[in-house]
Amino acid sequence: MAVLLTGGAGFIGSHTAVEIINKGYDVVIADNLYNADASVIDRIEAITGKRPAFYQIDVADKDRVRAMFESEDIDAVIHFAGYKAVGESVEKPLDYYRNNIDTALTVLEVMKEYNCRKFIFSSSATVYGTSDKVPFVETAEELGCTNPYGWTKFMIEQILKDTAKAHPALSVVLLRYFNPIGAHESGMIGEKPNGIPNNLMPYITQTAAGIRAQLSVFGNDYPTHDGTGVRDYIHVVDLAKGHVAAYEYSLKNEGCEVFNLGTGIGYSVLDIVKAFEKANGVPVPYVIAERRAGDIATCYASTDKAAEKLGWKAEKSIEDMCRDAWNWEQGEWSK
Ligand code: WQD
Repeated sequence: MAVLLTGGAGFIGSHTAVEIINKGYDVVIADNLYNADASVIDRIEAITGKRPAFYQIDVADKDRVRAMFESEDIDAVIHFAGYKAVGESVEKPLDYYRNNIDTALTVLEVMKEYNCRKFIFSSSATVYGTSDKVPFVETAEELGCTNPYGWTKFMIEQILKDTAKAHPALSVVLLRYFNPIGAHESGMIGEKPNGIPNNLMPYITQTAAGIRAQLSVFGNDYPTHDGTGVRDYIHVVDLAKGHVAAYEYSLKNEGCEVFNLGTGIGYSVLDIVKAFEKANGVPVPYVIAERRAGDIATCYASTDKAAEKLGWKAEKSIEDMCRDAWNWEQGEWSK
């Protein structure tokens, strides 16, 4: 039996593949390489000593997904495949709704044909929208998003809740990520943004490396301890281990459950800049710029439910995240 990771060659997917294999399970990766490269498969093998089966397919292509289910003994799916750039989603909403929802529906329909009953979904804290009720709790009602990317996550969560209701034998786990950063300690897998990074940490590492002249801090007039935006940064390896816990939870439970995957600790932009400089002994020049449209002041997770029901807690420190992110940036594979 194998766990299928759609989008498994990407940043979160590849780290999850490593941890699932390390736990002794077989992995199948399906990825169209839109935002990843095939050498990641070799690197997962180099790290774990075991090569995942790899299908270079678009999981919106039902015939190819069927053929993969025909060839592999797939016991569960962890669904990462999808577009994920917030700003791009505002410019190209139709592409985002078509791609993200089509891929999820296609995989679910083929799972039904093959009686595959475990689905773990890569959701996002973005579904909490502009709520200021922190820490964000999974039972929060007033969910609402500020961009099409977030709405696709919200809509797929709704599709999964309804499907789990109609099929009680299904086990669905919705994982709401906070801000994944860092990289595997080997420096062989990590976050490789296309073009100018949207997210904070890759922008910081490229600034420290001299690729970018300086970091623009998007606003210092938020109602936070130093005026800059506060987020719940979680090491990508901790996040990956959260997926292993979610898969093992799905082996023992039916129905649909939502879990935050965060640390429960909020750090500001300037906290991160200082932690990065301290951990790595390298300067990060920055300027204060205008706020970025759609940003909220503060976002961090309630971690109680994941601790209690998944038996999972993030363990790595902000120093680990900064050190591993810098190690990745300086390595050969981030180029
Ligand atoms: C973090 C903080 C910025 C860049 C997004 C998505 C979320 C998930 C993670 C996909 C904010 C500030 C950033 C920069 C800055 N993506 N910042 N200068 O916006 O919290 O979350 O990425 O799953 O769904 O919403 O992450 O890293 O972009 O920003 O000052 O050059 O850093 O204002 O306060 P965000 P981020």
